[in-house]
Amino acid sequence: MSKNICVVGTGYVGLIAAVGLADFGNQVIAVDKNAGKIKMLQAGKSPIYEPGLSDYLQRNLEAGRLAFTTDTALAIRESDVVFIAVGTPEGFDGQPNMNHVTEVVHSIADNLDSYKVIVIKSTVPVGTNRRIEKYLKTRCSEQEFDVVSNPEFLREGSSVQDFFHPDRTVIGHSSERAKQVMFEVYRALNLISVPFLWCSLETAELIKYASNAFLATKITYINQMANLAEEVGADIHQVAGAMGMDGRISAKFLHPGPGYGGSCFPKDTKAIVATGDQYGVDMSLIREVVEANEKQKKRVVSRLEEKLDSLAGKTVAILGLAFKQRTDDVRESPSITIVNELIFRDAQVKAHDPEAMDNFKKHFPYIDYCENWEEAVKDAHVLIIATEWNEYRSLDPRKMRETMKGNLICDTRNLLDPRPFMDMGFDYMGTGRPFINSKQLSEIRTVV
Ligand SMILES: NC(=O)c1ccc[n+]([C@@H]2O[C@H](COP(=O)([O-])OP(=O)(O)OC[C@H]3O[C@@H](n4cnc5c(N)ncnc54)[C@H](O)[C@@H]3O)[C@@H](O)[C@H]2O)c1
Repeated sequence: MSKNICVVGTGYVGLIAAVGLADFGNQVIAVDKNAGKIKMLQAGKSPIYEPGLSDYLQRNLEAGRLAFTTDTALAIRESDVVFIAVGTPEGFDGQPNMNHVTEVVHSIADNLDSYKVIVIKSTVPVGTNRRIEKYLKTRCSEQEFDVVSNPEFLREGSSVQDFFHPDRTVIGHSSERAKQVMFEVYRALNLISVPFLWCSLETAELIKYASNAFLATKITYINQMANLAEEVGADIHQVAGAMGMDGRISAKFLHPGPGYGGSCFPKDTKAIVATGDQYGVDMSLIREVVEANEKQKKRVVSRLEEKLDSLAGKTVAILGLAFKQRTDDVRESPSITIVNELIFRDAQVKAHDPEAMDNFKKHFPYIDYCENWEEAVKDAHVLIIATEWNEYRSLDPRKMRETMKGNLICDTRNLLDPRPFMDMGFDYMGTGRPFINSKQLSEIRTVV
């Protein structure tokens, strides 16, 4: 049986959940305190870029299964299930800032007028769900309710696909009644045999942090191996490829680059370290990962500086500002660190991204934003590729040679086949591959 659902927060997680749950046939009302966002959504326009999202948004609005409001109280009262999907950004002590979650929980307490299941989708420190349950029991002792932990694992850039085909759905609960409600909410996923893990509230919370910290560690591991490969003359792609063939390791998340970013890994790794500290448990491995990732982001510019002696007065084109391809999200993007380091060294920055320039402008309003890659590389001494957007795979080496002032390419994602660029006289600096300059290459060819 379909449910009346309220989703509080229409960011990357809440909006996808609202649209997806409506598509399952539920009646969904999504709330945000940002009136501008709600106005856009009511008009069928998505405030964020995610492939496929606009179609699902319009379809469910037209079908009358989805509505948007800024009225949290009304939305809560009209619903059987309330999802909390508000932001939990990094707080000052490593733990997330819980102000948004707290605000929503207070609204729920004020409007709990019938049995409801309160589902925490936001990533929250272990113990939070139990605390919310205790708080509501004290505030609303007359009213029946259940608290459920349902952490989100979607990846920005493919979040719509991930919502409809997750690897698994984790549901922490402490009542059979809540389990039955969640089973109904996600019936469509059960029909396509998505594995469901039913567990305690604390286990669900820790699964989320343990997963993100593991992925961040895997990225950092391959980044450090890549740094070593550069020095010893090995090719990290062959190393990673062979490692990935081992079923115990798997090939995923073994792509070297300029360090991880985004709204999750940076803050979630810090949060699990802080939770370890709180319980007196050694989280030194994750602490190292956090530090190593910061160094990896800064390393991009220090490597350039080593090659060029000084970046002062040089024009640097940066392609890719989002923390990964297929998203407009720049939160904790390595490009923020890279641009910051460039400006600090007095370089002129020209930038392009297919989707993320508006968000990047909030951090750096005064760099030169370009319409396309051609405009960005014009007159540049150096090109940095910082995000693995597909459109940067087909850069034209001839055109670049004609318009660039310098000949250095720093391909942090190893996106390009270096050969045609080196044939045109470019020096190529990848990640985890030895630096090759075009002069060296012609000498090698002459010898061969
Ligand atoms: N973005 C991801 O890829 C991702 C993946 C998995 C989990 N998560 C987790 O999901 C949560 C949400 O992340 P996000 O990226 O969607 O955040 P976001 O910042 O994109 O969106 C949060 C939204 O909540 C709204 N909001 C804040 N307080 C509110 C309130 N009191 N009432 C109504 N609306 C309110 C904000 O206006 C904003 O639109 C976080 O805890 C995050 O860690 C994110």
